[in-house]
Amino acid sequence: MYEQISHTLLNHILDNLSITLQRQDLRHFYTRLGANFYTIHSLFQRLYGHRQDFNQQMIRLVETMACQYIARDPELKALDMEREHDYNWFLRENIVGTALYTNAYSGTLSNMAEKLPYLQELGVNLVHIMPLLRCPQGNSDGGYAVSDYRAVDERVGSIEDLRELSKAFRQRKMLLALDVVLNHTSDEHEWAQQAMAGDETCRGYYYIFDNREIPDIFEQSMPEIFPETDAGNFTWNAQMQKWVMTVFHGYQWDLNYNNPAVFIEMLDNMLYLANCGTDILRLDAVAFLWKKIGTTCQNEPEAHLILQAMKACCQVTAPGVLFIAEAIVAPVEIIKYFGEDAIRSKECEIAYNATFMALLWDAMATKNAKLLNFGLESLPHKLERATWLNYARCHDDIGLGFDDNDIRRADYEPFAHRRFLIDFYTGKFESSLASGAPFMFNPKTGDARISGRLASLLGLEKALEIDDSNEIQLSIKRILLMHSIIMAFGGIPLLYYGDEVGLMNDYDYLNDPTKSDDNRWMHRGDMDWQVAERRHIAGSPEALIFSGIQRLIAARNDSPEFADFNTRKLLTVENPHIFAFLRWDYVNTQKKTLVLANFSHLPQHLDFSLLEQHGFDRNRRIIDKYSGNEPVHYSGRLLLQAYEFYWLTEAVN
Ligand code: GLC
Ligand code: GLC
Repeated sequence: MYEQISHTLLNHILDNLSITLQRQDLRHFYTRLGANFYTIHSLFQRLYGHRQDFNQQMIRLVETMACQYIARDPELKALDMEREHDYNWFLRENIVGTALYTNAYSGTLSNMAEKLPYLQELGVNLVHIMPLLRCPQGNSDGGYAVSDYRAVDERVGSIEDLRELSKAFRQRKMLLALDVVLNHTSDEHEWAQQAMAGDETCRGYYYIFDNREIPDIFEQSMPEIFPETDAGNFTWNAQMQKWVMTVFHGYQWDLNYNNPAVFIEMLDNMLYLANCGTDILRLDAVAFLWKKIGTTCQNEPEAHLILQAMKACCQVTAPGVLFIAEAIVAPVEIIKYFGEDAIRSKECEIAYNATFMALLWDAMATKNAKLLNFGLESLPHKLERATWLNYARCHDDIGLGFDDNDIRRADYEPFAHRRFLIDFYTGKFESSLASGAPFMFNPKTGDARISGRLASLLGLEKALEIDDSNEIQLSIKRILLMHSIIMAFGGIPLLYYGDEVGLMNDYDYLNDPTKSDDNRWMHRGDMDWQVAERRHIAGSPEALIFSGIQRLIAARNDSPEFADFNTRKLLTVENPHIFAFLRWDYVNTQKKTLVLANFSHLPQHLDFSLLEQHGFDRNRRIIDKYSGNEPVHYSGRLLLQAYEFYWLTEAVN
């Protein structure tokens, strides 16, 4: 019955669309608008229904979708149709991604195409190019302070270069992912500039206050993101003589989504980027989109409504485009970004698996899989047609976002255990060879996170320094173990640039005053192409790591059981050092792989009967898909060397 209200409104909107729009061929647009309109209208009504100008805002919203649809390249429209038809395309085993910075990787966007063969040699076919839009010259939070959503940072190229590059991607059947920084703009953005100049409309795009009254109330329940450099969540603006909400840095002004104009403008920007040939939009800091007094201002229900509305609108204009949710929040909260109370995903198709990432670092430090298992068991069930982005490292710090109850179940005390992990990865713990740094220690809460490159955190930097060949080999094994798990777990693995050749911390950032107070830059250094060249020197760490990851990707591509149709079972095994799970093919459920990973620096074993218990045929030969060899076993026990992993499957013959 309620649909009638939305149908009437839709008819009204279509009757009033401007003549130029009416003249276009909008057949597919209308079909999709009709299919999604009830959802869009309901969500928009929940968010903005109390406003007098609600219907006008709805008209603007539909016009925005229509204009961007008209602007969408026919080649991209064809891709939309293909993906609508083959709607499970992104759940398959054949996507492996990497994240990289243009300037650190190829200098400019136009030089990036030259680097694609290197990525293809490794087996990567999805690239998240880190923020590339116009941003301030100095501090810009690595480009996460956007000054213009329609212009590329002049230092790396132009919109034209971006479009060209996206064509090169399509020619090579590679996917392009770009950021949409939804939560805030830079203070150099035109809206912020006009707000400073006194424009009331633009002031309405942000949270701006005359005095500390409201900010102080907000502060009572809001945590701090960058307490060492940007304490608090508000910044005094001398020009306006007002306080601005700035949850991240002082120069990143939080957008006010209570205002439907902000929603519509940001949707327009998002669709513009989609039309540049982006396959996947990484929605930055989505947990922060809605602010409410008396809450942490994270994960508010309205943040989900905004994302659901954006998804529904994007489905009308650019249905082939996927969303990645970047919500580095508590385990039970992350999963909500796929959408709730639906069988199928209706918010973001992909989400950063931050919980899993942090748990893997815990397993490495403790050398056992106790917390890893408890943490994963506590995760709510994931929706169908939603998938994880599984990563070991990214451009940000490692936050120890475990659930305290899980820590206790693993027999640790939460505060002491987190302290241990920080000490371990910053090399303070005896016997630890890790060289990381504590990020944003907050004396008020005792919290800290960890910065550092994967290879350095896993001991390679120090092992090379002390020239200990045994430790070097162990570090390499740890690096491959980490990657073996993100490849097999289910979801899209995302490698961090340079990790494929064991790139280490870069301390040059300390000499740059715009970076020196943010040690995340220690793991954001330039790609060292000379180091990458050493992948051709047999036996070198670079060669061992690169060829190992290459082999992992090749074996993954050959394993339909590694696709993500929620076809995974965690296994409880008696040996706490071993992490074990079973994967099977969605179509041919008999086709299975048993993944085993030894997090200990010592050899470990498991009862061979585990395989039979999980339906492996004892008369068939068992092989490890990664090495192609039979696993080592003796007197009924499977043996795993220090940090060894197996992908066990029944041999075809
Ligand atoms: C995201 C980015 C991070 C940035 C923050 C603010 O979390 O990954 O690098 O600091 O958003 O935009
Ligand atoms: C916090 C935020 C995350 C951001 C990070 C930057 O963890 O939740 O979005 O990337 O800070 O360090």
